[in-house]
Amino acid sequence: MLQAQLTIDPAHRVAPVRRRTFGTFVEHLGRCVYTGIYEPGHPTADEEGFRGDVLALTRELGVTTVRYPGGNFVSGYRWEDGVGPRERRPRRLDLAWHSTETNEIGVDEFVRWTRLAGLEPMMAVNLGTRGVQESLDLLEYCNIPSGTALSDLRIANGAKEPHDIRMWCLGNEMDGPWQIGHKTAREYGRLAAETARAMRMVDPGLELVACGSSGSSMPTFGTWEATVLEETYDLVDHISCHAYYEEKEGDLGGFLACATDMEHFISTVVSTADQVGARLGSRKRINVSFDEWNVWYMSRFQSAPPPPDWPVAPPLLEDHYHLADAVALGSLIITLLRHSDRVAAACLAQLVNVIAPIMTEPGGRAWRQTTFHPFAQAARYAKGEVVRVEPACPSYETAEFGEVPVLHAVATHDGQDTTLFVVNRSVREPVELEIDARALGMGTDGGTDGGAVRITEATTLTHEDVYARNTADDPGRVTPRSNTDHRSDPLRIVLPPVSWNVIRLSKA
Ligand code: AHR
Repeated sequence: MLQAQLTIDPAHRVAPVRRRTFGTFVEHLGRCVYTGIYEPGHPTADEEGFRGDVLALTRELGVTTVRYPGGNFVSGYRWEDGVGPRERRPRRLDLAWHSTETNEIGVDEFVRWTRLAGLEPMMAVNLGTRGVQESLDLLEYCNIPSGTALSDLRIANGAKEPHDIRMWCLGNEMDGPWQIGHKTAREYGRLAAETARAMRMVDPGLELVACGSSGSSMPTFGTWEATVLEETYDLVDHISCHAYYEEKEGDLGGFLACATDMEHFISTVVSTADQVGARLGSRKRINVSFDEWNVWYMSRFQSAPPPPDWPVAPPLLEDHYHLADAVALGSLIITLLRHSDRVAAACLAQLVNVIAPIMTEPGGRAWRQTTFHPFAQAARYAKGEVVRVEPACPSYETAEFGEVPVLHAVATHDGQDTTLFVVNRSVREPVELEIDARALGMGTDGGTDGGAVRITEATTLTHEDVYARNTADDPGRVTPRSNTDHRSDPLRIVLPPVSWNVIRLSKA
């Protein structure tokens, strides 16, 4: 058994936990919308056709914000197609996913769904095939209370109250050659700046996100952010990051260390943004919107042919996640929390069926994938302030990231309650972790006020088979279970190999 030690001291505060860290993403892609959130005729569907089982799981997941409607889809989307009487809505080719879009769901239905789910919509505008005017039109339709052509159209379409969408993404992945309307950094930066300037004339208080890089391995990574921010610095609040990870060539240890890339991605983007700010003599700070992140077996998708005959809602990107995927994802959540000082929002891509924590059968069951659990537990227990912890532990060598520590951790502290989130990346070895939590027992005067700190609850997500998955027939195969392998004086807990652990501590 490996040995490790860490100290939790609330003085090592990073920033408050941000509500928007627990965002996800609903794109018109595959079965995310159709037979995902929406399926009229499903036994659990309400009168508007929203699946009740998916709504319940979305609430349980603890999602706070949902980005919509894409993704690559948005770069060819005409939002007007999705409003007004359904029978008059056109069917269109969706070039991004080689599918047919029926437009049964549009912005009004989506916003109604977010209200039912109790979360905040985040909207993306099309800067691929469209531009300033169409973005302004969508903003007017959504946010102006009444008395203009498009706000009155919304009211006539049944949405009396404005949608009041606060956060807007200025396009999607415009650095990617796969994107409809792909642009150079300068071209996109100019368009994003003009769009942002005009949108701010309507509402100066909007939060606007400029597109950053689609991945840290993009050839333009770094220079893209610098150029886009030169054009948009005073007009936007956030720059986006997107990252997807998968196990490659059986390198499980390397895959479990993928958060090392996310860590590097965030620090590089933050430094680049600060450098542009310094050059412009600005005191404003641009934050990161990590609005697409996940485990995605993209290589499988890229090697499959596009769907034939432009189908409606074909099963696309339906990854079935195993334990190791969930542990890698837990480590990515730890990274996002550790950077809460600059990561203002994050969206797990996506919510249902498409690389998602929730899976459904058309007309049938819905269940939690393995990756549901670390997200739901972090959304539930990460409260108050993020506290930095640095485990002293053994490390291992990876081909992609060099030497990596076996443990990856972060804590949050909220009054009497502290939660420690820890991943054990070791493929074989359990780790006995000693936790020095004496600082949590301190009184406000700095002396101990007699309160010993104890573990009130510990759960572990693990499995003897690291490739174990949940299915509709066996939905609870991989689920967090109580970890009783701990003791006090000093506090110690055993973390199994390849595991995600949530340890809750309280002053006795
Ligand atoms: O989430 C799936 C796709 O990944 C999105 O549409 C796109 O933005 C990214 O490349």
